[in-house]
Amino acid sequence: MSLEQLDIKRLRNLQQVRLQPGPRLNVLSGANGSGKTSLLEAIHLLSLGRSFRTHRLKAVMQHEAEAFAVHGRIRHDDGMLWSVGFERRRDEDDSRIQLQGRRPDSLVELARLLPVQVINPDTFRLLEGGPRERRQFIDWGAFHLDTRFIHHWQRFQRALKQRNHLLRHGRMDVLQLRLWEAELATHGEAVDQLRGQLVTALRPIFEQLLGALTEITDLKLGYSRGWDKQTPLAALLEASRSRDQDQGFTQSGPQRADLRLTRYGRPAVDMLSRGQQKLVVSALKLAQGQLLETLVARRCLYLVDDLPSELDLHHRALFCEQLKAQAGQVMMTTVETESLRHCLGADDTEVAWFHVEHGQISPAKPFMTGVSNE
Ligand SMILES: Nc1ncnc2c1ncn2[C@@H]1O[C@H](COP(=O)(O)OP(=O)(O)O)[C@@H](O)[C@H]1O
Ligand SMILES: [Mg+2]
Repeated sequence: MSLEQLDIKRLRNLQQVRLQPGPRLNVLSGANGSGKTSLLEAIHLLSLGRSFRTHRLKAVMQHEAEAFAVHGRIRHDDGMLWSVGFERRRDEDDSRIQLQGRRPDSLVELARLLPVQVINPDTFRLLEGGPRERRQFIDWGAFHLDTRFIHHWQRFQRALKQRNHLLRHGRMDVLQLRLWEAELATHGEAVDQLRGQLVTALRPIFEQLLGALTEITDLKLGYSRGWDKQTPLAALLEASRSRDQDQGFTQSGPQRADLRLTRYGRPAVDMLSRGQQKLVVSALKLAQGQLLETLVARRCLYLVDDLPSELDLHHRALFCEQLKAQAGQVMMTTVETESLRHCLGADDTEVAWFHVEHGQISPAKPFMTGVSNE
């Protein structure tokens, strides 16, 4: 999958922009506030229907504009060309999405078409933050690797919501509760199994990438499924019914699953510098892309925002090497191009360089003085 053309209208400071990225590595350089992150944000919107910066899409819309829009031409890995559009109007609460000129049934269709991974200065949150983001990370992989995952995940979520509702409201209707628990157990076990398979498949690729990117040793990638290993989910729900009722929600289960990174049995995050955390998370995200490529012959698009931040020259070079080694398309941004030119090689035909200035984008030839903003 690769993005062949991107059109953006009235998104943050991007008034009207057309970008034709190269199929491999793309470097977008420009001063602070020039519009680099906004460009990546536009691509993310096309893929997932949401921004990685804010939940409020109205903040993304240009001040005083009535609407903003992103349109992309995407070359699928099977060679087919797809047209995708995303539009949000100020006076509407829902976004308008178009796939080949029609409304898709759900965002799932969109997400499947354009698998995107973000590596940015907030990336360390995957390790430092709560389990929700790590679960999303596992689910991203499970979703792309197995078409059954989304079905189980949606049925599981619905059953969980229903059970929690019944636990909280009124007199307990045990018959109803049992029906939802059976549904929850069936799909929850399926979700857990696919998540477990994902982490098992990811582990060796992650370890190999970690070795290539860092000097960190003895890091263990584990999966915790959210409830006791020995107990079937159905039995757990039955046994914990009255305690769950006291609490007003389902305390254990796949909704508590987590990805665990440990070193000598302790959380790895406590022992890693910010830069190391960025590299560890990058290794995890690059591993997902490689897994997708290996198992289902799909390519992932990497949005790498502010690549040099937190990394010394040596690790920048290692990171660039890994980006070059993977098969998918990469859009990376930077305020300074010198170190990246050094890492990527100016004469490399696989790298397309662009310059962003006051919301305008133009091709920038590396090593030509006067073109870059430095
Ligand atoms: N809703 C908006 N309308 C207009 N401009 C905005 C909006 N939101 C942010 N901006 C401006 O867009 C510019 C680009 O931001 P950003 O893409 O984050 O820059 P960069 O990543 O290049 O540092 C900033 O100058 C910011 O002030
Ligand atoms: Mg930025």
